[in-house]
Amino acid sequence: MDPTVPAAPRHPSPSAPRRPLVAGNWKMNGTRPLARTLAHAALAAARASLDVDVAVFPPYPLLPYVAEALGSPDGPVALGGQACHADAKGAHTSGVSASMLAEAGCTLVLCGHSEVRTECGQGDEGVRGSAAAALDAGLRPLVCVGETRAERDAGRAREVLERQLDAVVLRLPRGADGIDVAYEPVWAIGTGLTATPAQAGEAHAWLRVRLDAVRGERARILYGGSVAPANIGGFLSVPGVDGVLVGGQSLDPAAFTSLVEAARHAAARRRP
Ligand code: PGA
Repeated sequence: MDPTVPAAPRHPSPSAPRRPLVAGNWKMNGTRPLARTLAHAALAAARASLDVDVAVFPPYPLLPYVAEALGSPDGPVALGGQACHADAKGAHTSGVSASMLAEAGCTLVLCGHSEVRTECGQGDEGVRGSAAAALDAGLRPLVCVGETRAERDAGRAREVLERQLDAVVLRLPRGADGIDVAYEPVWAIGTGLTATPAQAGEAHAWLRVRLDAVRGERARILYGGSVAPANIGGFLSVPGVDGVLVGGQSLDPAAFTSLVEAARHAAARRRP
């Protein structure tokens, strides 16, 4: 490398506004034809909204098809895996390692999605392990946290969110740099119920304080849970909501496109 050329900063300056991220979690949905349609729609939306980061998280077998449809891994739509194992390899039937995802063209991975926590019994320690493995493999983890309805009703939402976040970010080898977080109240996922913008703003503020304390100024905090074109504007107008993690509506190309457009408008309003 030419020593006279300064290396580009790994992250933009902390004072720059964080670029919004619109992330589509396809869950266990999609066929090859639908995957291509969705990938092309995401590409078109991202090209029309260069101030917005766009990502899709297809099921594992569709990753190669989506990678091909998206073109270069440096293109405008990032590819992500829906989970990864904490170990690099071994006797873990059904497991997928972070390096396998990287080899398939992923640059991102979800860690600790509530459906994985619940259906696969993944605890905070497992989420930390998968986020650490992701960082080791050069992937950017999108760490999901969120309280259940019962926890919220018992007044324990803050305690749960802080426990889930601290378990991961305080113990990552490189602090909170290079990760993003999604606040997804479990009771809002796939239910058509959403947090109010005020509830989201409060939760994001709690999480922001913790992230900033471990050098996480560049870490984005997304809102997730029944996000749709009709409600995204309310979330993105809340200070501290840096984007959205979308399930059901990411399977509809027109809806996903309008979510990216809404993020473009929100980014324009936030520009200093
Ligand atoms: P939903 O899912 O948008 O269908 O509620 C969000 C998620 O689980 O990430």
